[in-house]
Amino acid sequence: MKTTIAKVGQFVDRSVKIGAWIANKRSSGKIAFLQLRDGTGFIQGVVVKAEVGEDIFAKAKSITQESSLYVTGTVREDERSPSGYELTVTDIDVIHEAVDYPITPKEHGTEFLMDHRHLWLRSKRQHAVMKIRNEIIRSTYEFFNQNDFVKIDPPILTGSAPEGTSELFATKYFDEDAYLSQSGQLYMEAAAMALGRVFSFGPTFRAEKSKTRRHLIEFWMIEPEMAFVEHDESLEIQEQYVAYIVQSVLKNCPLELKTLGRNLENLEKIKAPFPRITYDDAVKFLHKEGFDDIKWGDDFGAPHETAIANHYDTPVFIINYPTSLKPFYMQPHPERDDVVLCADLIAPEGYGEIIGGSERIHDMELLKQRLDEHNLDLSAYQWYLELRKYGSIPHSGFGLGLERTVAWISGVEHVRESIPFPRLLNRLYP
Ligand code: 4AD
Ligand code: MG
Repeated sequence: MKTTIAKVGQFVDRSVKIGAWIANKRSSGKIAFLQLRDGTGFIQGVVVKAEVGEDIFAKAKSITQESSLYVTGTVREDERSPSGYELTVTDIDVIHEAVDYPITPKEHGTEFLMDHRHLWLRSKRQHAVMKIRNEIIRSTYEFFNQNDFVKIDPPILTGSAPEGTSELFATKYFDEDAYLSQSGQLYMEAAAMALGRVFSFGPTFRAEKSKTRRHLIEFWMIEPEMAFVEHDESLEIQEQYVAYIVQSVLKNCPLELKTLGRNLENLEKIKAPFPRITYDDAVKFLHKEGFDDIKWGDDFGAPHETAIANHYDTPVFIINYPTSLKPFYMQPHPERDDVVLCADLIAPEGYGEIIGGSERIHDMELLKQRLDEHNLDLSAYQWYLELRKYGSIPHSGFGLGLERTVAWISGVEHVRESIPFPRLLNRLYP
């Protein structure tokens, strides 16, 4: 019976045939252990010379790392194996022999692995991270569909700059200038006026010259936008969403979390509600912690965010940042004009900001004034302003960065391992 490694549990004590690659191998004169992988998982194949005979045993002994094969064997329950099963091999049919596979079981440097990302993805840890990424994507769609959001796809080629003009990738659009999207938000606001609650899920681009463990040039963002939702209600949806994806990964990826050695207790604590701290109080807290360099009005860097996050078991919202630090579209605080109704959600364990969101300005005159103050060309935002002309309403939204969230939940140090082919400063290959 042809099957996959993920499904062998349905075939205990029966014979199965699996298309696989050799992830690793060790052998003696009488027995060979093949670490098999087929994309769905990993399993050990045991080849006993006395049982399979000379020919098949010779194939098992000589087969090289990453060679492809059809392997036939009997599925055995095995308590010591992480997946719970082992394969007693009865036949081997080599499809293609791999010569000098560059990634060996020994340690390699990061740059070497990044140059071989197209092959590195096959390794057990990378496989686990991609499966967790997939579960976060799956549970994201599930959460928003269950909560009556409509999926909307904003354009990638745009004429506007929601998050400031310094980080844009410019390109020619025939005779016009265009940019690769740095956020779909403005289009999502238009969609919210048509469909109420919407979310997008797509690639975004930031020509940011940052070389940190949290920054990618191309990353994926989930951007919900909600009509008739004020800031506090938006925060409730954000914490429910983040708790939902964490609990989904715990439930559906136990093997992957184990492979990565993830501390499960830390993830189990991620339940709504999350604490909220104002920017004002965060500055005071940082002073108490000895960060004398921070003044009111400064943006927080990674060390500041980490110091705040370390104070809590769950992600924490920092709310009401100074107006001067944030984009043009954020609704002012009703009692103060120096701060806005916004929040950054800071993940635990040093992973930094995973969500940025706010209530949006719905007053036409104020919005025009802000566009002016940010030196943005009104003509490119005419359509956006019109949303404030025809039935303007309070509305809020947010953007969650997929890769930072994957890195945090997987417990991998750097976002470069949380996306299949990272685009980094100085890296466009492979
Ligand atoms: O805080 P940001 O810039 O917010 C926006 O773009 C809003 N328009 C979203 C909205 O309200 N619809 O980005 C949102 C999130 C960040 O919190 C972070 O998780 C992620 O996107 N992010 C990055 N991830 C990886 N590499 C980068 N260079 C990132 N920049 C932002
Ligand atoms: Mg932000």
